[in-house]
Order: sequence, then structure tokens, then C-alpha cells
Amino acid sequence: MTANKSVYLNGEILPISEAKVSVMDRGFLFGDSIYEVIPVYGNKLFRFEEHLSRLQNSLSAIQLANPHSAQQWLDIFNSLLEPGYDQAIYLQISRGVAEKRDHAFPTLTIPTVFAMSSPIEPFTDLNKGVKAISVDDIRWQNCYIKSTNLLANILLRQQAVEKGCAEAIMIKDGYLTEGAASNVFAVIDGVLLTPPKSAGIIAGITRDVILELAQIHSIPYSEDIISLDALQTASEIWLASSTREIVPVIELDGQPISEAAPGPLWHTMNQLFQDFKKSLS
Ligand code: PDD
Repeated sequence: MTANKSVYLNGEILPISEAKVSVMDRGFLFGDSIYEVIPVYGNKLFRFEEHLSRLQNSLSAIQLANPHSAQQWLDIFNSLLEPGYDQAIYLQISRGVAEKRDHAFPTLTIPTVFAMSSPIEPFTDLNKGVKAISVDDIRWQNCYIKSTNLLANILLRQQAVEKGCAEAIMIKDGYLTEGAASNVFAVIDGVLLTPPKSAGIIAGITRDVILELAQIHSIPYSEDIISLDALQTASEIWLASSTREIVPVIELDGQPISEAAPGPLWHTMNQLFQDFKKSLS
């Protein structure tokens, strides 16, 4: 990331080295902030309305008014795009700067709005996959909020990395929730499965696209609970996120999945996803 990369902060576009937030910002002091990550393909925001609607859900959940209209958001994001490569907009909104540190909401604050665009590296190596571990989902009960409080997620992801793995797949009360930074799919008995949306997971936009593509192309799928025992018998496991798209898992807790290579349904779905992206530009 270069020092002269332009970012958006509270109404201004400025070099990242000059973008500064107060130490009294509640995002810094309490993690009192939410975020979004919106992929950009062919210089177009991918599923903009859906991302904006999830942003609104997160804002409503933390009782913060949306500081901008859809058109204003669009103008802000478009001003950050650099043509020529796949990128993602990172947007963070905090409850802003208060005079003193107090857990309760201050009466008057102006939200801090920060946005930047960074290159993304979707998973493209058709012959490789990643390793994952299963971990206890130690998070709170409102994981549908895209909160910047990601301490549990980063600690669990770090555990995975220290074991040479790319993702930590979280299990709550014996059942799959999601990855540290992804939704999880499994192919079991020929059916594509993913846990239903709930307060316990992020309502992933990539997840929605995969389910839509499965429906359109008559791939058997179901939104259903998946026990860890069932996950261990899966013929394929995938991770889905805006920054990496669909990533095949080829090893879970040291055991090979789909003969330690990306499975046939992953190849099909990945191709459908790539074709869908191309059809939009
Ligand atoms: N995270 N679940 C979690 C916990 C996530 O952090 C993410 C993505 C997803 C997938 O959602 P989507 O398909 O809308 O990206 C699910 C982003 C990319 C991040 O934190 O950087």
C-alpha cells in the first residue's frame, strides 16, 4: 500500500498517510463501529444494493443513523476506484468522537466514516485448495452484525495460521456456524449445504450468489444445520467471501477432504461464479 493511496475520511479524499482519526474515536476505544467489504469487478460495485442493505442492518443493530443516501455512498465509493484490477471497498463507520470515555452512547456525535479501495486476490488456482481447522465458536450472540469487534475472529484465524492453515471453521454446540472471515459450504451425499442465516453468522453476499447459482443451474442444495461430525464426512468443503470468492478446502483438522484436491462441484460452481461476474461487465 503506497503512502499516496487516496482514501475517504469524513467528506474528504486524502492520501492515506494524512488520514487521521482521534484517539477519542469510539471505534478505537470500544470497537463501537461496523463495516462492509464490497467487491468491485470491471470497475463496477458488485451487489451494491445488497451490501448497502446489510450495512443498514448493521447500523440499525447498533442504533446509528445512516449518514448517507445510497447515491452519496455510490459517489464516495466510485471516487476511490482505480480502473484495471479487481478490488474491494472497505467501509467503516464508527459512532464518532466523544469528549470523554464512557460506555453509554454520547448524546451528540458525528459518525466517523472511512473508506478505501484495495486490490483483491480471488482464488484462481484450479488445482489447489487450502487447509482449515475446526475451532470452538467463542463469539457473542449477535454475529450477524458486521462489527469491527473481530478479536475472536482474529485469534481463531491466527490459531489456524500457526497450524499452517488458511481458515478457522467455527463450531457452536456441535454445529457449524462459519469461518473466521467466510461462510462455509459442504457437499454431503451430493447435496450442497450451508447453515441457514441466523444471528450467529454474517449474511454473506457471496453465499447468496452461490445459492442463486445453484438454484438456476439445478444443483441440489439446502440451507440446513451441519454438525461437525457431518462436516467431517463431506466430500467437499468451500469457503465463501467477497475478497476470495469461493475457496476449496482440501484438508480439515489434518484429514484430507475430496482426495486433497478441489472437488468436481467446486469446479462447476467456481466456473458459474466467474461466468456470472463476466456477464455483469
Ligand atoms: N468478511 N462471515 C464472516 C465472519 C466474514 O468476515 C465474511 C467476510 C463472510 C462472507 O461475507 P461476504 O460474502 O459478504 O464477504 C462471512 C470480509 C470479506 C472481511 O471481513 O474482510
